[in-house]
Amino acid sequence: MDSAHQTPLQLEAQIRSLAEHATRPPFLDAERRQELHARIRRLLAEQDAVIVAHYYVDGELQQLAEDTGGCVADSLEMASFGNRHSAKTLVVVGVRFMGETAKILNPEKRVLMPDLQAECSLDLGCPADAFIDYCDQHPDRKVVVYANTSAAVKARADWMVTSSNAVAIVEHLHREGEKIIWAPDRHLGHYVKQHTGADMILWQGSCVVHDEFRATELKQLMDQHPDAEVLVHPEAPEAVVALADVVGSTRRMVEAARDSLSDTLIVATDYGLFHKMKQAAPNKTFLVAPTGGTSGTCSMCAHCPWMAMNGLDNLAAALEHGTGEVHVDEDIRRRALIPIQRMLDFSRSHDLVGAATA
Ligand code: 13P
Ligand code: SF4
Repeated sequence: MDSAHQTPLQLEAQIRSLAEHATRPPFLDAERRQELHARIRRLLAEQDAVIVAHYYVDGELQQLAEDTGGCVADSLEMASFGNRHSAKTLVVVGVRFMGETAKILNPEKRVLMPDLQAECSLDLGCPADAFIDYCDQHPDRKVVVYANTSAAVKARADWMVTSSNAVAIVEHLHREGEKIIWAPDRHLGHYVKQHTGADMILWQGSCVVHDEFRATELKQLMDQHPDAEVLVHPEAPEAVVALADVVGSTRRMVEAARDSLSDTLIVATDYGLFHKMKQAAPNKTFLVAPTGGTSGTCSMCAHCPWMAMNGLDNLAAALEHGTGEVHVDEDIRRRALIPIQRMLDFSRSHDLVGAATA
């Protein structure tokens, strides 16, 4: 297929099975949690380590990151924070591509993750060998990849983008007369194409969480709450994005929740984000946009199974035993650094990076 690359059905089935079998951290009683908190704080100080967490992980881990001088952020700010911070060890609490990005940017630092099996369906749905073949078939196009990809895919790219800066970067390339290969998220790709008018061919990946949001049921919920504002992450399907008042990255959604004049917000993203949204707007009511009903199946039910693999116990074990250390092949790392650094330089010079202090 020339204009779009389909994910083979067999690969889609494997991704779904991995998502359904992702392990959950065990239940911990209050005493054990307290003990783990104390141990993690001690180990962070002893090892000159800092936690860099994503908004979708458990609220208790987000709080611990902030209380110990780390950050909770979207994927752009996670990369930027880890890069600016002086700690010798970065503990990335999120999914694997986030740990890899941290290592690519900071080869001199040790990068640990609670569980290296924490995947992302976008990364899994864009295998490097097939992607490289696809790019080789279109040598006249600039290769723009989303952060949610492996180091090997980034190594074949000209630019990396996140949901915070994708429109601005593609707009810039379009103005320069470039045609684009976009991978892997088809919904975000469609959104960027619509907003920039750029000539883009799209890899057909999707996020198992955001792909489940359903427009029909969302309209029904909007009818029940006519004054609610609707906030949507651009990894959601087009029909859902079309109903949004605000479309943006996780950070943009938190800001929108804080600034909204509505008392009720309907949110189409992972409900892990509700922790920060409720802190930003404590008096507002947050409703999860529907993923089930007559047109949906709700198997992930608005929560990323891989983000949910992060817990206090595997975080403590990573620090204590050095398990979950991220390694990236040096040749791939050097090549992958180019599109990431290009994105960071662009974002910093266009004021697109947030305010997390390092
Ligand atoms: P953000 O860059 O908006 O944090 O998105 C990352 C992600 O994985 C969303 O599913
Ligand atoms: Fe990947 Fe979706 Fe999970 Fe984000 S929510 S990490 S895009 S699977």
